[in-house]
Formats: sequence, structure tokens, C-alpha cells
Amino acid sequence: MEKPQQGRIAWVTGAGSGIGEAGAQALAADGCTVVLTGRREDALAQVAAGIRAAGGTAHVQAGDVTQAARVAEIARWIVDTLGRIDVLVNNAGANIPARSWSSLTPEGVDQVIGANLSSAFYCVTAVLPAMRAQRDGVLIHTASWAGRHPAPVSGAAYSAAKHGVLVMSQLLNAEECVNGIRSCVICPAEVATPILDQRPVKATTEQRARMLQPADLGGLIRYVASLPPHVCLNEVVISPTWNRMFAAAVDAERAGESQT
Ligand SMILES: NC(=O)c1ccc[n+]([C@@H]2O[C@H](COP(=O)([O-])OP(=O)(O)OC[C@H]3O[C@@H](n4cnc5c(N)ncnc54)[C@H](OP(=O)(O)O)[C@@H]3O)[C@@H](O)[C@H]2O)c1
Repeated sequence: MEKPQQGRIAWVTGAGSGIGEAGAQALAADGCTVVLTGRREDALAQVAAGIRAAGGTAHVQAGDVTQAARVAEIARWIVDTLGRIDVLVNNAGANIPARSWSSLTPEGVDQVIGANLSSAFYCVTAVLPAMRAQRDGVLIHTASWAGRHPAPVSGAAYSAAKHGVLVMSQLLNAEECVNGIRSCVICPAEVATPILDQRPVKATTEQRARMLQPADLGGLIRYVASLPPHVCLNEVVISPTWNRMFAAAVDAERAGESQT
């Protein structure tokens, strides 16, 4: 039986773990041929093997998305080998433990802005020519709750980079809508993925269990990619129902009430 997105080509960055892995699996299950990018080739190979075992099609193109030349090379490989690029899941990102103002260094700033913002621009500029020629393309960017609401827990550099991703997506729609190109920025609050291990204060197993799970985001990515060409979902802000960004404030208020 024909799958809903049969024959479409999707490039997923940060596909070796977490949200990217789940997004690649969901797109492949929907019929997309997926191209997986990240720095760890072994992690990508494992994800690709899982997708193939489930009957999907996956290619590994390892690379560091902070290297614009390598990003351009991968985009060229996709067009030359697979003929088109229908979906970009611009998802690779990273944070650093030394993120508070008391510990942030210029090197740390460059690292975080490079991994979350410059890299996102590199991937977009690499796929736009093919999408313009097709007069069709879906761009999906993983920003963050911190890209909507500056979040001390994520740090200033990460929050600023993710705000930048949000603006990048808005201006993609502003300029490229006339070319049939649609951009969606996803702003998740906490998702239980390996990136949380970079936090100075680690989340407990119980806290991780209450967070969004990678498959929740995988399903969302699949949904956004599957929308018909005349529909542009501009932005999705998604959080666990038990949202620690709010829960801390509620707890503090209740503690205050119990004292009055
Ligand atoms: N988990 C959350 O709570 C949360 C909330 C909001 C937003 N996000 C965002 O969601 C996205 C995915 O993160 P995740 O939560 O799924 O965590 P993750 O499992 O750590 O995934 C991040 C992925 O990005 C890849 N990556 C990092 N730097 C890269 C680089 N320079 N070049 C190529 N690939 C790179 C990593 O693979 P390699 O190390 O192999 O390169 C990794 O597979 C990120 O943009 C993150 O900022 C996460």
C-alpha cells in the first residue's frame, strides 16, 4: 500500500539521537527516503539500520553542520543522487555546561551560536536553490521554548541563538512563500534526550519521565512535513503538560500562600 509521503526526500540533521532520530524514523515510516546527518557516523549507521529493518530507506551523510562547505556538499549529494530535496529537518543543536554569565566564555558563545544558529542558516541556504527550482519545499527547524521565552536554565547564548532560529524561519516565510516554500519553527520545552546531560544540574529519572519524549516530536515533524502544499504551519510551541518552566512558579506561589 502507498504510504502518505512515499517518494519524498527528507534531510534530517542531528539524526543520530533524540528528536532527530525520532523525526527520521517517523518520516521513513511515512514513506520518505531519509538522509541522516550528524558528526558520529556510528550513531547514524545504527539509526539507518533500524529504519531499514522496519522497511524504510535511509542514507548516511555524516558531517559537522558548523562547517558550511560540508553542509553544501551534503545538499549537493542529495540533489545529485536522489534528484530533489522535499523536506529539511534543521534539527542539530547543542548546549554547553558553562552557560551562566558567571562561567560563559567567548569560546563558549561561539560554540553555541555556531551549533544552533549559524549551522541552521548553512543548511537553509544549501537547500533553498533546489527547493526554489522545484517550487516546493518544507523547512522544519527545532528551536526551543528558550527561543520564545528567554530561559536561564538554557543560558543566554542558547536562548539568543534559538530566538535567532525563530526569526530566521519567520523571514523564510516572508520571502520564500512566493516560491512555494514553507517554514515551520518548532519550540519544544523539555524533551527527554541526551542534550539534557549537558546541564550543570542533571534532571532526575522521574523528571525525565514527565517530559516530552522524542517520539512526541517525531510525530509532530511527520505531521508538519505531511501537510498539503497550500498549508504553512508557521510555528509550534509544545511542552509537557507538567511544564517545569511553569511548575516552579506555581510551587513558589503555593509556598507563599501557605505562609500567609
Ligand atoms: N531536549 C530538549 O529539551 C530540547 C528542547 C528544545 C530544543 N531542543 C533542540 O532539539 C534539537 C535536537 O536535540 P535533542 O534534544 O534531540 O538532543 P540530542 O540527542 O543531543 O541531539 C542533538 C543532535 O545534534 C547533533 N549535533 C550537534 N552538534 C552538531 C554539529 N556541529 N554537526 C552535526 N550534528 C550535530 C548531535 O549528533 P553528533 O554529536 O553526532 O554530531 C545529536 O545527534 C537541538 O537543536 C536542541 O537544541 C531540545
